[in-house]
Amino acid sequence: MAYSFDTIIPREHTNCYKYDLRSKVFGDSSVIPLWVADMDFKIADEIIEDITNAAQHGIYGYTYFYEELYNSLMQWNARRNNWHFSASDVVFYHGIVPSLNLIIQEFTNVGDEIIVQTPVYFPFFESVEKHSRVVLNNQLVLRDGVYQIDFDALERSINPRTKLMILCHPHNPVGRCWTHQELMQLHDICKKHSILVVSDEIHADILLYNNKHIPWATLSDYARENSITLVAPSKTFNIAGLSISAIVCQNPEILTKIKSFIERNQLHGMSPLNMKAFESAYTKGEQWLFELLRYLEGNLQCIREVMQQTSKIHLIEPQATYLAWLDCRNMNMTDEELQTFFVRKAGVGLSRGIQFGRGGEGFMRLNYACPRSVLLQALHQIIKVL
Ligand SMILES: Cc1ncc(COP(=O)(O)O)c(C=O)c1O
Repeated sequence: MAYSFDTIIPREHTNCYKYDLRSKVFGDSSVIPLWVADMDFKIADEIIEDITNAAQHGIYGYTYFYEELYNSLMQWNARRNNWHFSASDVVFYHGIVPSLNLIIQEFTNVGDEIIVQTPVYFPFFESVEKHSRVVLNNQLVLRDGVYQIDFDALERSINPRTKLMILCHPHNPVGRCWTHQELMQLHDICKKHSILVVSDEIHADILLYNNKHIPWATLSDYARENSITLVAPSKTFNIAGLSISAIVCQNPEILTKIKSFIERNQLHGMSPLNMKAFESAYTKGEQWLFELLRYLEGNLQCIREVMQQTSKIHLIEPQATYLAWLDCRNMNMTDEELQTFFVRKAGVGLSRGIQFGRGGEGFMRLNYACPRSVLLQALHQIIKVL
């Protein structure tokens, strides 16, 4: 292994949410923070070097989106996902959540219904509500320990006001990698009802074991022309604070509308350092990612082993993401009591399941992208008080 993920790097006093907002969020600045979805690992040396070199130039003037930047994204997806698109299908933007907000405003009207599937990353439904659109929640169902899409319920609830579906692919927080069959079932429903799909594929590279990611846009010609995909190296390479992502759309009419929104609102432009990090991650980060994934699988194994010692918490096996969705319903506590238990008794700061909408009651989300010793300490503290 060329990289070490065991090193503990102090993050206190760097103004990061995860550490420096602990007293505000948990009322205690000493909890082991396993909440915000970024990683406690140093990023690949190659990326640091490229950012540093760019920084040392000393002039950070207006920078256009250059050819190698597009190439880095296209080649990454062609090589790893067999997904081929051209530079003219790509628009760079300031993040996935800002892109979602753009799409909601540009492609739906006030009062339109937008499909989300809770429990899900909360900005999905918050963004819908903030723009006075209506959430059509097709809650995921947990069958035999595996989260599944309720296709029948979805078909029944779709109506002429349903215009858009926001797909979390892979899914945060339940860790599902949707299979080809599941995706095709969704695809056929969306096609039948002319629903535009926005596929958030930010977690697509964090695949555990041999799970595969199938980009939505590769499902069919129809999917390619009736969808918008959001991708970024931010989760994969731990550069989320740099706020750069890409919108990929292979339908020129849809893309023109996206570009027009950006121009109307004068949201173009990006930091040259962010662009460099993006390019560097996709061109030089693959070996680091390979090693990261093996480390994450090791961390997951630790969680699995510790959770086997108790019937109170059940790990929902993730296929992707570095987020473990813990079923704490056997603890027979309210969500308030669960939070108090983890913070006050175990000294661990997790994300509360209810934040992720309906179906999150009685669950907690644990971010295991941290050095193993930190994770083991947190697990030990939890198991001890259980
Ligand atoms: C599914 C999903 N989408 C988007 C984001 C955030 O993306 P961004 O920081 O680019 O807005 C996250 C972060 O946790 C996420 O889990």
